[in-house]
Amino acid sequence: MDEVVIVEEIACENGDGVIAKVTINRPDKLNSLNQDVIKSIKQMCKWAENNDSVRCVVLTGAKPNPPEEGKRAKPNSFVAGADITEFTGKNSEEIREIFRDNAIEANLNLNKPTIAMIDGFALGGGCEVACSCDIRISSTRSIFGTPEINLGLMPGYGATQRLVHLVGYGHAMEMMMTGNNVSAEDAYRIGLVNHIFEPEDLEAKTMEYAQTIAMKSMSTMRVAKKTIRAALDNGITDGVEIEAIEFAKLFDTEDQEIGVQAFLDRSTPVWKHR
Ligand code: COA
Repeated sequence: MDEVVIVEEIACENGDGVIAKVTINRPDKLNSLNQDVIKSIKQMCKWAENNDSVRCVVLTGAKPNPPEEGKRAKPNSFVAGADITEFTGKNSEEIREIFRDNAIEANLNLNKPTIAMIDGFALGGGCEVACSCDIRISSTRSIFGTPEINLGLMPGYGATQRLVHLVGYGHAMEMMMTGNNVSAEDAYRIGLVNHIFEPEDLEAKTMEYAQTIAMKSMSTMRVAKKTIRAALDNGITDGVEIEAIEFAKLFDTEDQEIGVQAFLDRSTPVWKHR
């Protein structure tokens, strides 16, 4: 059986470390999140967290397989949501257990930089996987949405909270209440995605961002990511206090000295800490 999550290690351009390209691989089911996928994403997160060579994670969905004879091709998908077939016959206790300690939280809590590369449907849990990445880069043909309301449900992997931060209260309410599809262009307009590119350019452009990020000091990146994330959980006064503490602490790191000296020397910094 094919792996439901494929990890490829792509060398960083400066020869230092790798970008982990992680592909959710159930294209015949539009890469929907069944328990095998969830388990594999959690394993990938553990692996990426503990692997010093990984400097950026790019999460994406597998492209459709060629159609069987006489059948229509399946559409392009990032992730078309939780696997709805796994919802039947479950009560609240079973669902609580499945949704507790889930893959979306594991990805969100990864201390490495993460990019969602989206080409196709990013619906329900798929939109939530995208929202759990630090940056979202999409093709112009992608379609976003939170259609759970049409199943008598609402988002359960954090979108009720995270969408409000990303796109604001009004757009989050509209998406969740209507369940309507949101085009890539509208997703860009409301801030759900950072960039949109033509499908044929998506991978190269996304990898450019990944390479740029992968070249930074990973120890500084970890602190910066943690500090920016504090903005989600704290008011501005507390958040700025956290920033002041973490910013000052960076002056005790070698990479700060290396970075500043490299600027003064007009050279490229060679970081000490991953
Ligand atoms: N869970 C389980 N299976 C899913 C799925 C999901 N979330 N989304 C798609 N699939 C499966 C379909 O059942 C179908 O399987 P089959 O070929 O074995 O019958 C296959 O993926 C292709 O999907 P299909 O519906 O035939 O494609 P389409 O082009 O007609 O429609 C969508 C595409 C995305 C509009 C449609 O699949 C859809 O609405 N999916 C559910 C989206 C959703 O509600 N997500 C939130 C879940 S909480």
